Amino acid sequence: PYNASRNADGVLEIAGVSVADLAEQYDTPLFVYDEADFRSRCAQIREAFAPYGRVHYASKAFLSMQVARWVESEGLSLDVCTGGELAIALRAGFPAERIALHGNNKSEAELDAALAAGVGHVVLDSMIEIERLNRLAGERGVVTDVLVRVTPGVEAHTHEFIATAHEDQKFGFALAGAAMDAVRAVFGAANLRLVGLHSHIGSQIFEIDGFELAAHRVLTLLADVVAEFGVEKTKQIQILDLGGGLGISYLPSDDPPPVKTLADALGAVVERESAQLGLPMPMIAVEPGRAIAGPAGITLYRVGTVKDVTLDGKATRRYVSVDGGMSDNIRTVLYDAEYDVRLVSRESSARAVVCRVVGKHCESGDIVVRDCWLPEDLAPGDLLAVGATGAYCYSMSSRYNMAPRPAVVAVADGRARPILRRETVEDFLSLEVGNE
Ligand code: LLP
Repeated sequence: PYNASRNADGVLEIAGVSVADLAEQYDTPLFVYDEADFRSRCAQIREAFAPYGRVHYASKAFLSMQVARWVESEGLSLDVCTGGELAIALRAGFPAERIALHGNNKSEAELDAALAAGVGHVVLDSMIEIERLNRLAGERGVVTDVLVRVTPGVEAHTHEFIATAHEDQKFGFALAGAAMDAVRAVFGAANLRLVGLHSHIGSQIFEIDGFELAAHRVLTLLADVVAEFGVEKTKQIQILDLGGGLGISYLPSDDPPPVKTLADALGAVVERESAQLGLPMPMIAVEPGRAIAGPAGITLYRVGTVKDVTLDGKATRRYVSVDGGMSDNIRTVLYDAEYDVRLVSRESSARAVVCRVVGKHCESGDIVVRDCWLPEDLAPGDLLAVGATGAYCYSMSSRYNMAPRPAVVAVADGRARPILRRETVEDFLSLEVGNE
């Protein structure tokens, strides 16, 4: 799950940089991003969807100012869902008109910051928000572009999707009923301009069927909207945003479809469906986060202890403790996520034994990789790399047990460049007040 090779000493190299040197210089745990890999994923997805519309990088997967600049220079747009993500993007010089603001509970301050910056559009999620944004836009004397987010009753995860997924969830407007009311409310709001409809059906998806059904259902709503308001008043509704969710391989056995295949299949479905409904072909937008950031990042950990635990008096399980854990990767605990882990600081010809890689936190559930094969001679000081940790690891990290967040380095062309420094205890202390 990462682009790497071994040098003559058996040490893994990424973009020509030895991970042992990186660990030495920047300490561990350490996130390492392969900049060229990140950029080429941006470029591949952008090119695949270019004939049909545009691509937003979902910054929740991983964002820093450098990352925003990579996304910008690769020609993608950007999704943000908080004032924090918006601020980082703007500070990095990301053009506001290529930013979309998401979220089910954007504060007035967040909505107003988006208006002040002049973001491309806001994705509306509730009736209260329609009223709120309209009022704020009115106060600023602007008309702002919006999408209405609908829940199309499709829920997808990797290989399956549920076509009748209940709509008992916090996001968007239910397609049956609520969505039309939301559209009516937007048409009645003087400072909002409806430019599209949005749906997001899930994450880590390998099959196109769920997207197809969602596209069909959202286009059917669009046809109803056109029927109610007429062609003239609805011709600015041009965006069909199908959300994120493109899957990646976490394990060598995972086999996601190439993005071009997905883009062409989606393009064909949307073209067919819109023709059938007598609608002009909309512009398709997608918002991948994981598919861009995930495979570009790995985490380096240093082994601290190795312990064999006897199970029911017979078998043993080998626990390998590393210097990070659930504070830098909550996904194993939260989603039972699986990862590929390897010894990367040397080559070993020892036989492989089943191991469990665990973190250093005070919880027995603090597991990084539940079951994996590692060489029997694994010892303290060895470096392990966990692959495909570029999405939703750093961005979901915590300071549990006052563990400082790891540093993040970008590697490219044989050179490493830190993009986020490691947190320190001083950072924690700087939050303390009232101790004078
Ligand atoms: N657009 C919307 C509206 C979303 O809610 C999301 C993800 C995306 C785009 C990007 O989805 P992606 O292409 O990255 O799958 N923390 C979870 C994933 C949560 C995704 C939430 N929304 C994980 O670590 O697997």
